[in-house]
Amino acid sequence: MDLQGKCVLLGITGGIAAYKMAGVASALKKRGADVEVIMTRNATQFITPLTFETLTGHKCMVDTFDRDFKFEVTHIELAKKADVILVAPATANVIAKMAHGIADDMLTTTVLAAKCPKLVSPAMNTGMLENPITQDNIRTLEHYGFTIIPSESGVLACHDVGKGRLPADAVLLDYVEQALAPKDLAGLRVTVTAGPTQEAIDPVRCLTNHSTGKMGYAVAHAAALRGASVTLIHGPTALPPVRFAEDVPVTSAQEMYDAVTGHFEDTDILVMAAAVADYRPASVAADKVKKSDGEMSIPLVRTADILGTIGPRKTHQFLCGFSMETRDMVAHSAEKLSRKNLDMIVANNLKDPGAGFGVDTNLVTFLTPDGAVRQLPLMSKEAVAGAILDEILSRRGR
Ligand code: CTP
Repeated sequence: MDLQGKCVLLGITGGIAAYKMAGVASALKKRGADVEVIMTRNATQFITPLTFETLTGHKCMVDTFDRDFKFEVTHIELAKKADVILVAPATANVIAKMAHGIADDMLTTTVLAAKCPKLVSPAMNTGMLENPITQDNIRTLEHYGFTIIPSESGVLACHDVGKGRLPADAVLLDYVEQALAPKDLAGLRVTVTAGPTQEAIDPVRCLTNHSTGKMGYAVAHAAALRGASVTLIHGPTALPPVRFAEDVPVTSAQEMYDAVTGHFEDTDILVMAAAVADYRPASVAADKVKKSDGEMSIPLVRTADILGTIGPRKTHQFLCGFSMETRDMVAHSAEKLSRKNLDMIVANNLKDPGAGFGVDTNLVTFLTPDGAVRQLPLMSKEAVAGAILDEILSRRGR
């Protein structure tokens, strides 16, 4: 998500994971955000303010009474300027202070004054985290509307193994993006399919295709950030699950058919980005097929066409299909749009540079039943996902 024009205030407290926040600050800057940083005095024992000043281009605030500043009353100005505050790593001490309205340094005064969404990522020793006092303080923060980012488990700095690790940068970034994204899909149920299917030949082999799932995952991710209730039904991929979305893994076209039809009644928008196999072996051998000297052929039968089956039956659902072609893209895609009774189809040509499987970009054309053909420029799959959702929202109305 492009964070241009958004101010993210990072509150860094005194835990060993403080050093990891340099990566988060840098990633936020790369996405266009204006990043301000406040550190507690203890945090400066682990990483220096200079690191963040270099990364963000702003003075890193530590001392409330620092007179070398740019704002009139710094903690109030920062509290007003921030679109979101992320306190990470959040120590037990700072969590306790925030939960009880104690404001005795630059960070806690700013947090108390701020009205924007506040995210807190607890990171500490397992014993400190599991202590009922800390747990009560975390619940208190939730009660006051803070979002708590769950700590992860693993080897901690004290060599204990357990809960209390700061999550990976990508997780923190997802929470920041979710806090900042417009919630124009709130209340809508969006089902997305992604990735390839695998059609078994025998216990060892299968028929599949080169889909990596990136396009569908990007749509599911963007929809979840924008407030939709998202179900991602996907074939085998190497991608990490989409945060804030229900994850439904399937293998074969038939399993995908069952999962999609099972969710269809409760779906407002279906985006079928999966590369579903059109054929499967007529029968699956119970044991590994042994080779012989001669040629071999495998009889194939058609799989059920998911969109082709549910398209004619749709009631309130908006159906968006995908169409990957290597020639006559617009004509073939228009035919699919009409045959499957879709509301929109996203077409791309596998032969266009930057489009198709595996890459992080796509060059797509939207076709709709009114005959409109809208070609978008080459964009990241993330940006294409946003454009697809914008188009769907403008066409289905709210
Ligand atoms: N699709 C589906 N069920 C299938 C196969 C595909 O719902 N069994 C969906 C895809 O997810 C995609 C759209 O249909 O959204 C693609 O249409 P399709 O006619 O299957 O495209 P191709 O298989 O690429 O077409 P063709 O083989 O005719 O070139």
